[in-house]
Amino acid sequence: MGLLPASPIRPSRSPARWVGFELPGLGIFYPSNLTPDDETGLGRWSEDDIVKALKTGVRPDGRELVPIMPWRSFSALTDEDARAIAEYLKSVPPVHHAVPQPLGPSEHATHPYMTVVTPQ
Ligand code: HEM
Repeated sequence: MGLLPASPIRPSRSPARWVGFELPGLGIFYPSNLTPDDETGLGRWSEDDIVKALKTGVRPDGRELVPIMPWRSFSALTDEDARAIAEYLKSVPPVHHAVPQPLGPSEHATHPYMTVVTPQ
């Protein structure tokens, strides 16, 4: 199975290794470290937590993931396929790699981002 570069399993070493998505009105969101690192990744998430986030967009802390993370599409995954993705993510070697935290709409970005424009 291949993950798109937006959610890298092996973090890129290029200078622009973090590229976030700006959702006007919401802020800027950087793709997460999906490896099972306890501090910077999904190490403390259970497989059930991952399945729930993929299919409902809700993190263990209750926050809803922004829609650039295509969880609305992933909600059509079968439970079996979502579970297989979760098992895979928990099986890869952990990589200690802190990605930038989400920024609010008025916060200054220090890393690159792309803006998602909604046509009027
Ligand atoms: C099979 C493919 C994918 C998997 C398994 C996956 C999984 C996840 C998971 C579990 C999270 C939550 C992690 C956390 O909150 O710490 C997440 C967040 C995120 N993902 Fe994905 N993702 C995938 C594809 C994508 C794609 C295609 C994009 C963008 C084009 C994307 C962008 C993001 C972003 C921006 C976040 C952070 C969202 C937020 O903080 O609200 N992901 N992903």
